[in-house]
Amino acid sequence: MDRKQFITTSILAGAAATVAGQAFAQSLQESGLDKLTDAAGNYALQPLPYAESGLEPAMDQETVHLHYTFHHGDAVKAANNDLKMILQSLDANTLDAVDYWTRKLSYHLSSHILHTIFWTNLSKNPLQPSRELMQQISKDFGTFDRLKLLLAKTSKGVDGNGWGILGYQPFTKQLTVLQCENHEKLTQWGVIPLLVMDVWEHSYYLKFRNRRGEFVDQLFAIINWDNVSHRFEIAKKLA
Ligand SMILES: [Fe+2]
Repeated sequence: MDRKQFITTSILAGAAATVAGQAFAQSLQESGLDKLTDAAGNYALQPLPYAESGLEPAMDQETVHLHYTFHHGDAVKAANNDLKMILQSLDANTLDAVDYWTRKLSYHLSSHILHTIFWTNLSKNPLQPSRELMQQISKDFGTFDRLKLLLAKTSKGVDGNGWGILGYQPFTKQLTVLQCENHEKLTQWGVIPLLVMDVWEHSYYLKFRNRRGEFVDQLFAIINWDNVSHRFEIAKKLA
């Protein structure tokens, strides 16, 4: 098998592997939580679930506007271009370029996925975790306060830009906290994100300047735990 055949086979294998992922995505979309693509199958930016000023004063309107429109929006455009370039590079037999665009797609599509979840994780009127989620939190972390302490510490400590993530690990049926660098590094295979905390500087620099810790503490005041609980229920069914 030459290199092009290998890459083509790998892409096809990847497509097969994503059948389960598509089922998950379909379930999420049917639940009304996430929709990453438009009717034509292109990656697409979905409307915010609130006005750009809807998270004031915890998150200012200008930050939400720039973050959503340009940081998230540009990642969506880039992911579409990355996918197109992978296929064009295959057709042109420029296989070194395939490596390049595949890395770019990992970065940009992961950005699109995490940002899409991020917007729905926030609300000006936060609720408490569901009874089921609270039971799982107690089992895996002891108390809700211990989870929040761990998630805050993890998010504040990201080297450079990245995310703190509460996820459900279906292989062990446990909640887990990740410290993600950029959008795609330091994950665990299989983890389904439930709550993502964006600690890229673009999330907070206009209002909080260099005070990331203060921003993370403020973020806990606008977490939509109802959304997190809903994601937990879906994740358990798909596991
Ligand atoms: Fe971001």
